[in-house]
Amino acid sequence: MALREHYECVVVEIDDDGIAWATFNRPEKRNAMNPQLHYDMEHILIELETEPSAKVIVLTGAGNSWSAGMDLREYFRETDNDPEAQYKSFMANKHWSWDILSNSRKPTIAMVNGYLFGGAFVPLANCDLVVTDEDAIYGLSEINWGIIPGGIVSKVIVDKMPFRNAMFYSMTGRTFDGKKAVEMNLADIAVPADKLRAETIALARELMEKSPVALAFTKQALRAVVNMDVPQSYEYLMTKIQALQFMDKEKTRARGMEEFLDNKTYRPGLGAVKREE
Ligand code: COA
Repeated sequence: MALREHYECVVVEIDDDGIAWATFNRPEKRNAMNPQLHYDMEHILIELETEPSAKVIVLTGAGNSWSAGMDLREYFRETDNDPEAQYKSFMANKHWSWDILSNSRKPTIAMVNGYLFGGAFVPLANCDLVVTDEDAIYGLSEINWGIIPGGIVSKVIVDKMPFRNAMFYSMTGRTFDGKKAVEMNLADIAVPADKLRAETIALARELMEKSPVALAFTKQALRAVVNMDVPQSYEYLMTKIQALQFMDKEKTRARGMEEFLDNKTYRPGLGAVKREE
C-alpha cells in the first residue's frame, strides 16, 4: 500500500521540509467527520507512519474550521439503524484518532485553524503538540442537543483539562477561544491567524533537528508512565533508556557526550546536537 493520489475527505501532501500536512477537507460541512473521513485518515496515518519522507505530521482543516466534530447526519443519524455500518465507522474513528495517532512514532502537531467541537477533541488530545489560532472557537456543545460528550471525549477532557474547566464547559456548552485553550492545557501555543502556519512550520523544523528515534522514545515514555506507579516507571524508564541506545543508529547520546565533555563544542542545554545531513 502507499499514499493515494486522492482521498475523498482529506488532502495530504508532504512538503520539501518533510512536513506531512493532512488537511480535513469538507469545508462546506466545517470538516465534520463522516465515516469516509475516518476511513481516509486511517489509511493516511498508517501510510505516513511508514513513509520516510514524512518527518512531522500536521493535522489541520480546510476553510475556517479544524473540525466541527462528528458528522451528526452521516456518522450518527444515518447509521442509527445500521449496526454494521455504525460498527465499521466507529472502529475506523477509534483506530485513527486513538490507536494510530497516540502510538505514532513521529511528532504530530494539531494546527487548529478555526472551529473545533465535540468528537474533534479526541484527535486534538492525541496529537503531541497543538498550535492554535488565538481566535479559534472550541466547544463541548453536546449538552446543547441533549447528549453527553461521548465516544471517548469525556475521558480525554478530564485527562487533559483541569477538572473544573472540563465540568464547566461540558455543562454549559459555552465556547472558548484559542488563548483560553492554552490556559487550560488543551493547546501549547496561541497565535494570530496570520502567524499560524509559520509558527507551526517553525515548531516542526525545531523537532526535525532532534534525533527522530529519541523523539519517538520520549513520546512513548511520557504516554506510558501516565498509567504507571513510581516503581513501575523507574523500571520501565531504565529499560527504555537502554533500548534507545540500542535503537539509535546515529549514536546521538555518545556523540553529544563526546562533543560536550571532550571537545567542548556543544551545550545540550542550548539546542539539539547537530545531526548529519
Ligand atoms: N455534523 C453535520 N453537519 C455539520 C456539522 C456537524 N457536526 N457541523 C456543521 N455541519 C454542516 C451544517 O449542517 C451545514 O450544512 P448545510 O450547508 O448542508 O446546511 C454546513 O455544515 C455549514 O454549517 P453552518 O452551521 O451553516 O456553518 P456556520 O459557519 O454558521 O457555523 C458551526 C459553524 C461549527 C458553529 C456550526 O455548524 C455548528 O454548531 N456545528 C455543530 C458543531 C457541534 O455541535 N459538533 C459536535 C458534534 S459531536
